[in-house]
Amino acid sequence: MGFPHEPHAKETVVLSEYFGDAAARSYKGWVERGGYKALKKVLGMNPGDVVEEVKASGLRGRGGAGFPTGVKWSFMPKDKSKPHYLCCNADESEPGTFKDREIMRWTPHAVIEGCAIAQHAIQAEITYIYIRGEFTEPLRIMGAALEEAYQEGVLGENAMGSGKRLDMYIHRGAGAYICGEETAMMNSIEGRRGNPRIKPPFPAASGVFGMPTTINNVETLAVVPHIINRGAHWYKGLCLGNERSVGTKLFSVCGHVQRPGNYEVTMGFPLGELINDICGGVPSGRTLKACIPGGSSVPILNKEETENCILDYEGVVAAGTMLGSGGVIVFDDSADMVYQVMRLARFYAHESCAQCTQCREGTAWTTRILERILAGQGEMKDLDLLLDLADSMIGKTICVLSDSCAAPVISGIKKFRGEFEAYIAGVREPVMAVAG
Ligand SMILES: Cc1cc2nc3c(=O)[nH]c(=O)nc-3n(C[C@H](O)[C@H](O)[C@H](O)COP(=O)(O)O)c2cc1C
Repeated sequence: MGFPHEPHAKETVVLSEYFGDAAARSYKGWVERGGYKALKKVLGMNPGDVVEEVKASGLRGRGGAGFPTGVKWSFMPKDKSKPHYLCCNADESEPGTFKDREIMRWTPHAVIEGCAIAQHAIQAEITYIYIRGEFTEPLRIMGAALEEAYQEGVLGENAMGSGKRLDMYIHRGAGAYICGEETAMMNSIEGRRGNPRIKPPFPAASGVFGMPTTINNVETLAVVPHIINRGAHWYKGLCLGNERSVGTKLFSVCGHVQRPGNYEVTMGFPLGELINDICGGVPSGRTLKACIPGGSSVPILNKEETENCILDYEGVVAAGTMLGSGGVIVFDDSADMVYQVMRLARFYAHESCAQCTQCREGTAWTTRILERILAGQGEMKDLDLLLDLADSMIGKTICVLSDSCAAPVISGIKKFRGEFEAYIAGVREPVMAVAG
């Protein structure tokens, strides 16, 4: 990405308009670019009307599941007998995903403004912005912006002169992927071990400190000021045909492409065009082999599926995968898919919180089998064992980390079985030594 950011002609720039523009980071710079107008407007509105506006916009959560944001907000109790909380999920640890850190790096006040609007809508006194511990630069920038927001009276006991109290705290994570899962994050904020909680109760009924809580992703919250300023109708109109998937989405593209980076396109944009036109395609002399379009947790697509995939919530499902966090990992024909699947499984084995047996044992066992295959010590029956194991890891645990491990394994074996068999048959040279 050039600095200042020069968007590709095919991008539709909303969230990333000020990426690369360091002056947009300060309160003054943000206000000069139209910042905090939306919050000022919202603080004069009835919270229920703000929820309705976001509902009408069709915005769906950008953290992975695509749940409608306004609907999620409407689940919060209307009575204020208990404190309400908002959590901004800035843990972003999904391999292949690096968009939230860019939003925080370049437009920290957009995140603060989005949080403050959501806070008013759900009548929360406090927002916890949970930032992944390794994000030292975003953390510093967000911290400085938060301090400024208090100094300028955006936050505090009389937010923007409205007479309403809005407080925000940054909570630094300690580098555990599982703490991005919303209930694990709530435990972590409370100072407990970051293990996911059983649902129900859902966070809107019992979240942080047992109080009604809403959790939203950074990208979800950062776009809310735009919706308030330009209207739900405008946002809903950012659509390439499928009215259930609207707005723009930041895709983090990495792997075998000539121009990796974050690119913002309208929902419904073709994945092939993102890879070939915007990112310059795979390196010259190479051909596309596979793609994981939604971060490491979603099924792998082969070449044809990639070329025909439409990037919206329903389009990716039709292609056999999921939109997830929008981390697009591209593989050319030099990629060893067995090794790639093993690397993913190893990640999940390392990050499993170990609460659920299927996840704790399944992720570790899957990794060991894949390592064995890569060491030339696999057997053909290992492929059935891997699929059997994967089946027992789907839909049986407290959170979906174990499902996330199973997805690349199942799709990897289904679509690239020949590569696994080549290691087992001794046609491919082993690339690993198995320890123990
Ligand atoms: C293992 C795991 C890790 C997750 N990590 C993240 C994350 O880093 N950031 C995020 O926003 N959501 C993450 N999620 C999804 C959150 O649980 C939650 O659905 C999301 O923050 C809701 O925000 P949204 O409605 O704006 O999408 C993760 C989920 C799981 C199961």
